[in-house]
Amino acid sequence: MEYRGYDSAGVAILNSKGLEVRKRVGKLSALIETIRQRPIHGQIGVGHTRWATHGQPSEINAHPHTDCTDRLAIVHSGIIENYALLKERLLAGGHTFRSQTDTEVIAHLIEELARSYPMREAFRRALKELRGSYALCLISADEPTRLFGARNGSPLIVGVGKREALFASDVPAVLERTRRVVYLQDHDVVELSADGVRITTMEGKAIRRAPTRISWSLAAARKGGYPHYMLKEIHEQPAAIAHTLTNRLDAAKGHVTFDRRTNAFLDRLDLREQLVLIACGTAYHAALVGEYMLEEVARLPVDVDLASEFRYRGPLLNRSTTIIAITQSGETADTLAGIRLAKEQGAKVLAICNVVGSSIAREADAVLYTHAGPEIAVASTKAYTSQLTALALLTLYLAKRGRRIPAAQWHRLLEGLARLPKTLERALASEAAIKVVASKYAAARNFYYLGRRYNYPSALEGALKLKEICPLIHAEGYAAGEMKHGPISLIRKGWPVVVLAPQSSVYEKVISNIEEVRARSGECVVIASEGDAAIKRYADHLITIPKTEECFSPIVAAVPLQLFAYYVADANGCDIDQPPNLAKSVTVE
Ligand code: AGP
Repeated sequence: MEYRGYDSAGVAILNSKGLEVRKRVGKLSALIETIRQRPIHGQIGVGHTRWATHGQPSEINAHPHTDCTDRLAIVHSGIIENYALLKERLLAGGHTFRSQTDTEVIAHLIEELARSYPMREAFRRALKELRGSYALCLISADEPTRLFGARNGSPLIVGVGKREALFASDVPAVLERTRRVVYLQDHDVVELSADGVRITTMEGKAIRRAPTRISWSLAAARKGGYPHYMLKEIHEQPAAIAHTLTNRLDAAKGHVTFDRRTNAFLDRLDLREQLVLIACGTAYHAALVGEYMLEEVARLPVDVDLASEFRYRGPLLNRSTTIIAITQSGETADTLAGIRLAKEQGAKVLAICNVVGSSIAREADAVLYTHAGPEIAVASTKAYTSQLTALALLTLYLAKRGRRIPAAQWHRLLEGLARLPKTLERALASEAAIKVVASKYAAARNFYYLGRRYNYPSALEGALKLKEICPLIHAEGYAAGEMKHGPISLIRKGWPVVVLAPQSSVYEKVISNIEEVRARSGECVVIASEGDAAIKRYADHLITIPKTEECFSPIVAAVPLQLFAYYVADANGCDIDQPPNLAKSVTVE
């Protein structure tokens, strides 16, 4: 689970000595070393990799957290919003706290309640007092053959193996042991024991949840010979987008389709009504490209919002609004809150999502799965290009349904989309050349990225990739036409500016923006279409990409942007798969 948080880690194991705990600050490898030196054994335990919310990364703040008597241990993902009040009460009741975390209150709360109730009941009663989000697991020396778990707003699954069961926050963690997984839902309370998996409501009423068989292979969740997951996932993009297109696009027959539920959802839409795309981070950049596609090609009215803004700005929604939530993990807290808000106000929700069975996939009215396979690197790559591919399919479906696209254009786009896996393979062939350009700029500390129209979001995404995995660098993406309204003041000799200039309806405008940068002695790394001889004289360094339809150009341009960021970060010795302060899925606010 290290990609979910990696500032500290710990385990607690129950055995004949009682509860044994090992914790370390830093990567999981540090904890593994400690356990090598001071081994612990047992058949039941809890472990956790932390992404700090309350209290800085330290051994004391690392999970598991124990009660005053060290008889029970808790691991928790999420935030307990009323922890300060609970802590005050527990301190007054004589409990001693060791950490600054919100999680520790849960351990003491259960300890307190276990004085009056059996552990199962104490656990349930404690949950009822918690406000906020949690996926949590508990072991107790008083119930040495049981593992307790619960979820509310944070992902938790149960892997059902042969004579064993496991809790985890995400599927890759259990793939080595089992492919049978139960996706827990909010307010589920679970007990794992030799008797099996027992799921109940908070009130103790039994619930049946059938296991799902996971199709992801273990190899898909491993590095497969690449030095980093990010590089492996960049290279997986032709296959990932081919999966997004499979059984949905038939260019020969001129056909786009989805599963029955999604088709029915799309066929019911009133195409005069507003579509609102919500997402976070890279998925938000995909949403921005989606806006251009849906408006230009399908002629639909579209709004785009960051989920973290959307949920608090009091959006005007009604039964005719359609929300399209875009998310790799399907667990991002802001996006989840956004769709819940929208549903409360009667809006319909379509999710574009990678993780089958995730919270957003379950709560949406229909899902368009991207089928990109597990994405482990914190920096999103194949999830992004497969989201764009899904948006392209959606655009074509709705354009046809609304009869808003001339037949010739429809067929041209369909063929361009079908060719995309091959086009991306060709884009990957420039890797060595991109590495050379990246090495020239490895020492630069400020970058601008510029693009217009479909490639304005590409500029944002290119800059995000670089600053995300190379924390030494400040990078900003701008709409190229905005430069003159402020950012251009920073340009000086040698300042690297990555410009997206593939053949497009705004090509000449972009050339003018390059001229403006060069007039101020900035250096342009230009990403242009293959065969564009004229652009050479404007570029300090040229990276070429295969030609495609303008609306698909961000999918192709993503490849050199990702590789450029990767090789700049690599040359700087950055921790590419686990950049500081970040985590793969942001399941807290
Ligand atoms: C992308 O490289 C980031 N790690 C991040 O911006 C991510 O895209 C964002 O947190 C949204 O995640 P989601 O797609 O799982 O909802």
